[in-house]
Amino acid sequence: MFADTASVSRRSHLTGTRSPDLVGVTVVVDEMTISVFSGGQSAARTCWAGTVVPSLQVLLGESTLAPHDPSQDLGMASFSRSCRIHSGAQILRGLAPVALTALLFLGVAATAGAQQYPNTTFNYTTEMNEAVTHLWDQLLFWATIVFVIVEVGILYIIFKFKARPDSPDPKQVHGNTALEIAWTAIPAVILAFITVPTVKTIFMTQAKAPADALQVEVIGHQWWWEFRYPQYGITTANELYLPVGRTVNFKLNTSDVLHSFWIPRLGGKRDLISNRTNYLWMTPRDSMALKALNGSCTEYCGESHANMKFRTFTVTKEQFASWAAHQKGPAVYGAVTPPAVGVTPAVAGAAATTKSGQVGTELADAPTPAPVGFVFPREKLDASTMPTATPPSSIAFTAGLTGDVERGRQVYSRSSCIGCHKISGNPMSAGVLGPNLTHFGSRYTFGSAVYENTTENLVRWIKNAPAMKPGSLMPAIGNGEYNPAIKAKVTMGGLSDQQIADVAAYLLALK
Ligand code: CUA
Repeated sequence: MFADTASVSRRSHLTGTRSPDLVGVTVVVDEMTISVFSGGQSAARTCWAGTVVPSLQVLLGESTLAPHDPSQDLGMASFSRSCRIHSGAQILRGLAPVALTALLFLGVAATAGAQQYPNTTFNYTTEMNEAVTHLWDQLLFWATIVFVIVEVGILYIIFKFKARPDSPDPKQVHGNTALEIAWTAIPAVILAFITVPTVKTIFMTQAKAPADALQVEVIGHQWWWEFRYPQYGITTANELYLPVGRTVNFKLNTSDVLHSFWIPRLGGKRDLISNRTNYLWMTPRDSMALKALNGSCTEYCGESHANMKFRTFTVTKEQFASWAAHQKGPAVYGAVTPPAVGVTPAVAGAAATTKSGQVGTELADAPTPAPVGFVFPREKLDASTMPTATPPSSIAFTAGLTGDVERGRQVYSRSSCIGCHKISGNPMSAGVLGPNLTHFGSRYTFGSAVYENTTENLVRWIKNAPAMKPGSLMPAIGNGEYNPAIKAKVTMGGLSDQQIADVAAYLLALK
């Protein structure tokens, strides 16, 4: 229907049908020639930058084209109209980044401090993140002022000085001393406003911790966290207890590659660097008592970097003292009758189920629990802090097995486990390569806080840890499982499902 074509030439020859896209070129080139071919005739006209092509008739002159049918007229009309529309579209396109930036600012502002975002960093939970949040607020304030002034200026200039059909060529200038001084001086003033609070915050957050601070040594491993409390003689893994109202001074080291330690809700994020000790300190406010918080590694450290998480429990000073006193000593075990694997409550009799509904814990005959120190109460665990990962279905496990704690202790003490793990109170288990398991049964998670500490998860982990955490240094131990470390199936020295159930019962009994 529209047999006509128009072409636009500048340095290269752009050709197209009479579409808005083609005509849109009109407003951006410095100089061009528009040629129109219609009904076997052609005409051309040179246009200058900013020219809004008034209409095809004007463009081509009166006599260029012979009278033609309505469809061609329509084409010409749209040629003229779309030219203007496109100019508007270009302005809008220019404004798109502005609008996006504004949306981003609004989005960030809206999320600031919102408690429904459990990992938000905009908090006033420690002096560390209060300082940083306050600095952020100041930067945002000045940035917003600059943003508004600049955007208003841009919009004003766009509309005030845009090209019109009757616009003369703009005055050609080169250099403007007053402007150049202004746009050098203004940023210098803005930077001064930003520098003072920034430097103040840097000095504050880099200062030494108070001498009486709680010392916690954080050691990053591929891929789990070791926490040591030298003042209390405690070594634990992946679950960090912090008393509120007392400054904690983290001493950050790595046993292998770079990691980065971060508890978003408490603020601060600092790298664990080989051959160097970094420090990070903060004081959880009293209002933070009995909170479960997520922590993670934030420096890429290998294939299970994303699986390198931990939990932080903020507790009162008294609760911390109770926890610490118990953690220092060997585990108390026998507090809970071991759960059966894959047994439903109906089979196990007076049994309870976890949320998975698969594990029955025989509570009826459970001995009176031995006194253990404070453990963060389960009901205070935020949903966001409980792992939801499940073992891959490739790790099969015999259902209905009930582990025996004492048998498990014996199997564990003869197995390769003791080469890497330490359990105070079990003289055979003195390894230091893997997480200290002394009070393993009182932890809510394992595998660097990736799995909930349940029998169902634990037996599969013991059977084939690398299948549950890629790159895990802990090998597959279950008979017949593929062990990537030796690139073969486990045969010699592997554990049967019953033995694994026993070991799991032993570990879970370590309160
Ligand atoms: Cu450790 Cu990433």
